Order: sequence, then structure tokens, then C-alpha cells
Amino acid sequence: MLTNFLVIGSGISGLNFALNAAKKGKVLIVTKKKIIDTSTNYAQGGIAAVLDKTDDIKQHVKDTLETGAYHNNKKAVEFMVKNSTSAVHRLMDLGVKFAKENGELKLTQEGGHHHRRIAYVGDYTGKEIERILVKRVKDNKNITILEDAFALKLITKTKACFGAQIIHKNKIKTILANQTIIATGGIGQLYEFTTNPPISTGDGIALGVSAGCKTDDLEFIQFHPTALETNSYPRFLVSETVRGEGAKLINSKGEYFMETLHPLKDLAPRDIVAREIYAQMKNGPVFLDCTTKCTKHSAKFLKNRFPQIYKQLLKDGYKMEKDLIPVTPAAHYICGGIVTDLYGRTGIKNLFAFGEVTCTGVHGANRLASNSLLEALVFSNQIIKKLKKSATKFDDKISSPKLLPKNSPTTKLALHLKQQIKHLMWQYAGIIRNRSLIKKEAIPQMQKILTKLFQLSQNKILTNQTLTETENMAKVGILILQAAYHRQKSLGCHFVD
Ligand code: SIN
Repeated sequence: MLTNFLVIGSGISGLNFALNAAKKGKVLIVTKKKIIDTSTNYAQGGIAAVLDKTDDIKQHVKDTLETGAYHNNKKAVEFMVKNSTSAVHRLMDLGVKFAKENGELKLTQEGGHHHRRIAYVGDYTGKEIERILVKRVKDNKNITILEDAFALKLITKTKACFGAQIIHKNKIKTILANQTIIATGGIGQLYEFTTNPPISTGDGIALGVSAGCKTDDLEFIQFHPTALETNSYPRFLVSETVRGEGAKLINSKGEYFMETLHPLKDLAPRDIVAREIYAQMKNGPVFLDCTTKCTKHSAKFLKNRFPQIYKQLLKDGYKMEKDLIPVTPAAHYICGGIVTDLYGRTGIKNLFAFGEVTCTGVHGANRLASNSLLEALVFSNQIIKKLKKSATKFDDKISSPKLLPKNSPTTKLALHLKQQIKHLMWQYAGIIRNRSLIKKEAIPQMQKILTKLFQLSQNKILTNQTLTETENMAKVGILILQAAYHRQKSLGCHFVD
């Protein structure tokens, strides 16, 4: 199969890139489940941007740097924020209907922001953005979508990329492309407790690293403070925008413990809130108080403003307007990834990356809330100026592994190892880390898992999606653990005891 642009992943950055690139050539999107099975589809809060007359670029940049513990690439932050207003307008032009009042955008607030600057659609902003982008992509004759298509490896030679090998309909297929784009999202599924969907297994980072890409900032895993404390998997997110509308965290003694901890109180940066909840949970459960008494909002307001959350909480037995909601931190976002420049270039010729899979430097040591959809959108918009439809010539023979049946005993073993990886990461690369244990226990254990996986695949002669996915998780897990070991002092969401 031949295409001009091969996009791996179907979240906001992949779809937005595809729409841009379709003006220059044929685009093929491969996505490992259905097109809407993405982290974008789970994003509740919104998209941060300079949208209000009383806000300005400097303020948004300042909040991003402060939350990122000044570990950010300032040039990348400025580039993103300067392009934030036009990026949101692009989404509106495509058909996204953000909440408005009297013709003006209604804006909300989240942790780390000193201004209400987040455009939103109820509590399902990501779902709405994904819905519109999918619609536009499906309407575009230059774009083809392959669902249930899993990228096995990139085809590379002498620091250049020529496409990818994928598993589709139980066959291994080769796709040659002028330009290949990694837009696979994050790694939350490496952790026992996460808000991320099942697709977030770090495939893009593993693909990139195998092709020779550099990674950075992998130790900065953001834990969202308020996942619902239930047995559901992944954990259901109770958006920070609920606190943005006045809800407060309360401990088992009835104390609003964030009041005195930080000038931004319940809207302090996420790392600070998550760590405090974690500490408070040693003495009993922690709750989110969104009752009408606390927020001064009516039940009707809560139901309208947070329709998804309201419905889910009701299913779990909680009425937002009168019950305290038990919450707990869960792995949510990786701030680092494949190193890219302002145009998504990876250092491997004709290989680009966008969105959560990257390290553009904008998030630093801790991402500012709702900057993720923004980053994905801005960076995947800019690249188009640089794209060329050069001819692909790749005559080398590409070796293919044999496919293992989906239900083979090897697959079952791989699934078992997946659970071990999640457990290990939660235990050693969680909210509080111990570097000596990471070195002595976690890295050797993860290395053992990886060796076992190589044995199962007979050194990659035999494979299938589950086996490769598990291998990807173990490889990325080791990289995160190594990065966490090498960073000696606490910074942002990397906290060592
Ligand atoms: C949230 O709605 O709390 C999550 C938003 C984000 O991760 O930026």
C-alpha cells in the first residue's frame, strides 16, 4: 500500500494533521481500535487559550511555566500560546460549538490558571472535538481510515522513515509513505490506576525509540487528583473544572484541607493537589464536595454544566448536589515523550510526531490543565507549511514476523505480564518515588518481564497485537523508570522521598 501521509493514531493531533495534510496529498489514518477510541474522546475539561480581553499571552505563558516548575522550553510555550486563539477559532470554524453566553465564549478555570481561560463544551469537550474532526475526516476524499489496524514497527533505513508495518484483519501489511506521523497518545495504561482509555499503552514512544528517536522528560507523569474512587477501570475522571466551578476537597475529618496549603487553594497545580490527597488518604478517604451548600450552585446547574459526570456519579450512587464524592489520584498524562521541534520533526527524516506522545517542551515538569488539547492542535497545524510530497522509493526486502493466534497460551501469558507491569509502575513510579528501590527492584523486575516477552516472541519471530503492545509497555516502562532514577531531586510531578 502506498500513501503520501501515514498517520498512526486518531485523536485530536492525528485527525487535525490529516485534515491539514489532505490539502497536499493522500492521507491514510491507521488506528488500533475504532476511530473514536482515543484519549481526546475522554477529555472533559476543555482547551486553554487566550480568549478573553482581560487575559493576555504573557499571563498564560507565566501560568504554564510556573506549573511546569520552569523546566519548560520557553520558546515552545510562547509559540503555543501565541497560536492558541487561532487554534480555538479553527476548531469553531470546523464546527465545534463551545459554550457561549450572549455570543461570547464562556470560559472556565482549572488548576494552575490565574485566569478563566478554558473554552469547553459541557464536560465532554474532547468528545465533541473528536466528533467534529471525525466527521470532517470522513467527508474528505483524500483521507482513508483503517480501524483495528495496529502499527507493529516503522520502516526505517539510514535515519529516514518510509512507512510502517501494521497488523490488519489478521494479516501483516506494509504501508509505504512519504511522511509518517506518530500521534498515538499517552501511556496511562502502564499504571494500575489510570483515567486513560485502553489504547494508551505507549506504542508511539516505543515505535519512535525503535526507529532511533530521542526521548526526554519521561519521568514527569501527571496524576490527576480526582478520579472517582470505585472499582471501574479505567477510573472515571471527575474533571478539575468541577473545582473550577467552586467544589472543594474535604478530608475524613471534614476539613477543606487545600484552603491553607496554596494560594490557589483547590485550584493549585495538579501535582501539589494529587500529592496532598495521597497524603490525606493515609488517614482516611478524601472527598470532593460539590454539594449546593459548598458550591452555591443549584442541582439544575450541576446537572447542566456537568451532564456526563452527573450521570455517572448517579449510576455509582452519588447525587452531586448533596453527596460527598470519594476521589483518588490516578495516572493521567505523560509530560515527556519523543523529542520534537516546533514542527513535529523527530530527527528521523520524514518521521513526525504530535500530541501527548511528544516532548515539545511546553509542559515542563508538570502540564498546566487543558494545555494538552491546545498543544496537540497548535503543533499539528504548523507543520503543514513544511510538508513536501516527495516520492517514496524503498526497494529493500522487509522481513515480517509470523502472526500468533489471538487466543494462544502465549497471548494469555502476555496479558498476565501486562498486569505485572501495571502493578510495578504504580508501586515504583507512582506519586512518591524512591530512587534506590527503582534501581534495585523496579528496573531489574521490568527487565525480567521484557526478557520473558522476547522469549515468548522468539526474538520477534512470532507476534500479535497483545504481545507487541505488552512489549511496548515494558520498554516504555523501563525508560520511565530510568528517567525517574536519573532525576535525583523532586521537580514538578516527579517527587522523590
Ligand atoms: C480535567 O477535566 O480535569 C482534565 C483536563 C486535563 O487533563 O487537562
